[in-house]
Amino acid sequence: MEHIVPMDEGIESWNTTIFLYNSALKEVKTKVEILNDEFQQVHQYNPIEYVKARIKTPESIVKKLKRYGKETSIENMINYINDIAGIRIVCSFTSDIYKLAEMIGKQKDLTVVSVKDYIKNPKESGYKSYHMLVTIPIFMSDRTVNTKVEIQIRTMAMDFWASLEHKIYYKFEGNAPDYISRDLRECSEIVSMLDAKMLQLNEAILEAKAAQEENTGAI
Ligand code: GTP
Ligand code: MG
Repeated sequence: MEHIVPMDEGIESWNTTIFLYNSALKEVKTKVEILNDEFQQVHQYNPIEYVKARIKTPESIVKKLKRYGKETSIENMINYINDIAGIRIVCSFTSDIYKLAEMIGKQKDLTVVSVKDYIKNPKESGYKSYHMLVTIPIFMSDRTVNTKVEIQIRTMAMDFWASLEHKIYYKFEGNAPDYISRDLRECSEIVSMLDAKMLQLNEAILEAKAAQEENTGAI
């Protein structure tokens, strides 16, 4: 395996870098969990189904730098790779995605660097998800380092599609036959229909419940 740490940079620098990304991941994950708990307190409702957090493996980092035509170095990895620390938030409904994104954006100590809305503008593959690149300050004893974290927010249905599509594409190493890519895009449409239907059902249920409570209250 090719090593990410060039001889002149040393293992210490690598360890510090990974320490920073791990800390940033912890910070953002806790923030998201607190937002979810607060939501539960205020609205008696949980917008998040589950949260996954991961640090990119050295192999994937090297592979991505190669793809970008960059030399393998810690400096390049910090500058060019945005998803070394990644957090995936899986929500119940599409509307929850935008509520959460807004709540995350309002966090004072967090800076939103960029947003990619692949729900409004799905990728050619059919991929749908809401991406936010944020930085969070990590306070070390001698300095503060703003550290990047990629946040992906999607529904369970979008997550289901993305996981399976990733598996299928991996098998074909990106060169899947046309009919498979077409079918995958079609599945992505079905996923959107399912999400829309579930959202509609949820709204109908909430309305029915509110009406019922109003009637009971009137008696
Ligand atoms: P990379 O694609 O990661 O080089 O960076 P980028 O700047 O193009 O970011 P983008 O927002 O397009 O994608 C980042 C991440 O989103 C990827 O690492 C995947 O986790 C996910 N993603 C993007 N496109 C697809 C897709 O077509 N299928 C699946 N399954 N996941 C995708
Ligand atoms: Mg990409």
